[in-house]
Amino acid sequence: MQKGNRCFEGFAEVYRSGGYARFSERVTRVLPGFLAEHGLSANSVLDLACGEGTFLRGIATENNWAVGVDLSRRMLSLAQNAEAQGNSSPLYAAADMVSPPFVPGSFDLVTCWFDSLNYVTSEEDLRSVFEEVNRLLIPGGAFVFDMNTVFALSVLWQREGVSIQRNDSEVLEIQMPSFDFDTVTAKLEILVMVREGNGWRRIDETHLERGYTPQEVIGLLKGAGFDVRGFWEDLEYLTPLHDESPRMWFLTIVPE
Ligand SMILES: C[S@@+](CC[C@H](N)C(=O)[O-])C[C@H]1O[C@@H](n2cnc3c(N)ncnc32)[C@H](O)[C@@H]1O
Repeated sequence: MQKGNRCFEGFAEVYRSGGYARFSERVTRVLPGFLAEHGLSANSVLDLACGEGTFLRGIATENNWAVGVDLSRRMLSLAQNAEAQGNSSPLYAAADMVSPPFVPGSFDLVTCWFDSLNYVTSEEDLRSVFEEVNRLLIPGGAFVFDMNTVFALSVLWQREGVSIQRNDSEVLEIQMPSFDFDTVTAKLEILVMVREGNGWRRIDETHLERGYTPQEVIGLLKGAGFDVRGFWEDLEYLTPLHDESPRMWFLTIVPE
């Protein structure tokens, strides 16, 4: 998403009901073991691009505090409403992760899941995100995140072509991907028909995801002052990255 591009507004409900949150459910299950293995804590957590809040609801306990920011007010409103039914109490704020509104050293863990950093489509903005995260973490604090690889966006998405993601009595969701090699950016046109009464309401959204190589990401992280501790194809099995990995996961630390 470019700054100001308001996707995930009309699509938010379909995102929640369409099983997309399974990704962050898995992260919620895997992350505690990963943090423990690396001697890291999650006493104060900031989730960038928190979406409808599944991860924060899973990680927030009585013993820590958790904050989420997202550009989409609709996603945030789903998060807030879901929260009212739960036991934990994350806080949510509408903010751009390029310039999150918190004082330095506020968190010991910052996270960003499910391609959200690919929505930052300029290298300059990605640099800002990393610099801001570095500023917001305490010394020794960790930034853990995933991104789609260039291979996923330029080959796997395109191989899939136009696809029907969902077709049931309530929702028809069609996705149409394309890729621009000049900007290394995938465009996903999403057309959704949502049943309303006896008729259907149409939602159109365009999502842009930029691909970055692991080397580009590592260069930007180091430039922002991070110690890059590791990068993998998968956070649970810690499989190494290779040319055809669909996703890359990073662990970076603010040096003490
Ligand atoms: C694929 S969703 C992932 C949501 C959530 N992290 C999850 O795992 O389900 C991408 C999210 O990124 C948010 N987003 C995109 N660009 C953003 C930005 N610059 N600042 C804050 N949120 C952003 C969108 O509004 C959307 O909620």
